[in-house]
Amino acid sequence: MTQQVLILPGDGIGPEITAEAVKVLEALKISDGLDIHMTEDLVGGAAYDAHGLPLSDETMAQAQAADAILLGAVGGYKWESLDISVRPEKGLLRLRSEMKLFANLRPAFLYPQLADASTLKPEVVAGLDILIVRELTGGIYFGQPRGIRVLDNGERQGFNTYVYSESEIKRIAHVAFKAAMKRNKKLTSVDKANVLEVTELWREVVDTVAKEYPEVEVKHMYVDNAAMQLILNPKQFDVMVTGNMFGDILSDEASMLTGSIGMLASASLDENNKGMYEPSHGSAPDIAGKNLANPLATILSAAMMLRYTLGHEELAVKIENAVSKVLDQGLRTGDIYSEGMTKVGCREMGDAVVAAL
Ligand code: IPM
Ligand code: MG
Repeated sequence: MTQQVLILPGDGIGPEITAEAVKVLEALKISDGLDIHMTEDLVGGAAYDAHGLPLSDETMAQAQAADAILLGAVGGYKWESLDISVRPEKGLLRLRSEMKLFANLRPAFLYPQLADASTLKPEVVAGLDILIVRELTGGIYFGQPRGIRVLDNGERQGFNTYVYSESEIKRIAHVAFKAAMKRNKKLTSVDKANVLEVTELWREVVDTVAKEYPEVEVKHMYVDNAAMQLILNPKQFDVMVTGNMFGDILSDEASMLTGSIGMLASASLDENNKGMYEPSHGSAPDIAGKNLANPLATILSAAMMLRYTLGHEELAVKIENAVSKVLDQGLRTGDIYSEGMTKVGCREMGDAVVAAL
């Protein structure tokens, strides 16, 4: 049966990078009989401009009905002064929350060809292969109560709530342990259990779940130390599991170990591996529309979609090999450029991947 894929390009460089991923998927439809049907819709600022909301109910229903979603990026200067309830980011958060996409997988993998592109010494990052498992529908991003209130003395006070229930911690821990079992069987759980009760519980629950995976070596690390260790000795990590906000921060940090955030794909999955796929980077409004963006994170996200949701491991590998090949050919967008390489634009990079398939 034809699988339905919803494409949500979003804002900034979103439309450019998703167009290249769509090109790759179209090529696979022809060369390998990939049986998918793609439709496109609005999210983020683009949806706000059209409907006054960063995600319409119609688009939300389309997302629920689709087998998988490929999203570009949301946000931009233009919408920064809007009320927080209708900001572009809310469209993304609504998708994650209503579709119950609690498991966010963010692989930070260094292509050997890009060892020079990292700001860290090649020997520190060579061979790097980390999987960050970020809880995506809970924690301080969604905790209630939240808001800005006026105190008795007339001063305003902003507040958010950092909460995790046992069941939320348990289910993300299982995802992380299962991933570790398929990799090097090492799991680092990141928390701030020396200060925050919510992560004291996090640590306790992770240890309980660990009993079901005796082969996995578990370590707990405070988030400040984890941020430092990622720079000091990133290769000590295999799988890292953490809450929503720590995962947001650490995954940006980890991406830089791989040379550029423009290389980092991600999958956001529900209980049944239905998912939304997006590059880990943002909408980069400063370079939007200039054919400068790196489409590889989005193309690699499409590969993850084929692997995790659509059941085409062989085609995922095919895309990943094609990306490796274009890097071998020396093709680089500006973000991963180093001397002696050939600088190309977003479209040319997408064309090269299609050619390498
Ligand atoms: C990410 C982004 C989002 C997040 C923003 C755009 C809401 O930074 O996917 O990492 O904070 O989760
Ligand atoms: Mg982020």
